Amino acid sequence: PKKIIIDTDPGIDDAMAIFLALQSPELEVLGLTTIFGNVYTTLSTKNALHLLEIAGRTDIPVAEGSHVTITNGTKLRVADFVHGNDGLGNQNFPPPNGKPIDQAAAVFLVEQANLYPGEVTLVALGPLTNIALALQLDSGFAKKIGKIIILGGAFFVNGNVNPAAEANIFGDPEAADMVFISGADVIVVGLNVTHQVVLTEADRDKLARSGGKFAKYLCQIMDIYFSYHKDSYEIKGVYLHDPATLIAAVDPSLFTYTEGVVRVQTTGISRGLTILYNKQKRFGEVSEWCDKPTVKVAITVDAPAVVKLVMDR
Ligand code: BDR
Ligand code: CA
Repeated sequence: PKKIIIDTDPGIDDAMAIFLALQSPELEVLGLTTIFGNVYTTLSTKNALHLLEIAGRTDIPVAEGSHVTITNGTKLRVADFVHGNDGLGNQNFPPPNGKPIDQAAAVFLVEQANLYPGEVTLVALGPLTNIALALQLDSGFAKKIGKIIILGGAFFVNGNVNPAAEANIFGDPEAADMVFISGADVIVVGLNVTHQVVLTEADRDKLARSGGKFAKYLCQIMDIYFSYHKDSYEIKGVYLHDPATLIAAVDPSLFTYTEGVVRVQTTGISRGLTILYNKQKRFGEVSEWCDKPTVKVAITVDAPAVVKLVMDR
């Protein structure tokens, strides 16, 4: 199986993605690393440990990530109105028994990349601070990590924090820009793709009736996520951002991609905006764009196949 590490801010759709990974025979989960985003990092770590306990997978290590952005200059924004105060649908679960390992997330990422050079797929489901820190810790990290699959950005469509920015990129724009131009083998899945991948109310009812352990747990935490989508998007369903991105690790052929340079706007009202330049037009010597390494940006998705995989697993 493919070795993966999930960098995550659980989060209801993060919980779905983590369970999906644990249920996928194609994958071997080496660890979870945590980050602020939907909740602050301390709670994110507790939730990661809790989810592994629910799954009976306390053998998987959790490494706690950064509590501040890469520049330590951005006020954190959490999304309690999307995921609940506890990040998991306000269910008042008891605290986990387990503890994170002694290594910080970035140190764990560097260690695993050195242990299995070129073999590890890092799936990033929150702001990209830990990955930017790993790049700073080890100048060879971009080449030693096998692949980085990122849920982030909004290409040619509006964001979800504001018209410009998607939440994970908005969480740490400077870190995101570093990762996009790092030279690592990066796949980016943005809102332009994940907004096509919808779990409907009918799908949820089917899951609730299925009797599956993970389905039952997810149905318990998902109500607030459905209400948020009803209020904000007027849809009777939820976007499967993080699970869809995890599927790109399981079966990349369910997406099509374009290749280009991605940069992140770091100032002004469009802070957090992701811009893709696929070099169809030559702009001459604009080195901030032309000389940078490219990444793969997902453009289309086989949404029914992705939803089916999520449901099945
Ligand atoms: C992303 O932000 C978080 O709310 C979700 O978990 C997902 O990773 C969507 O913009
Ligand atoms: Ca997330």
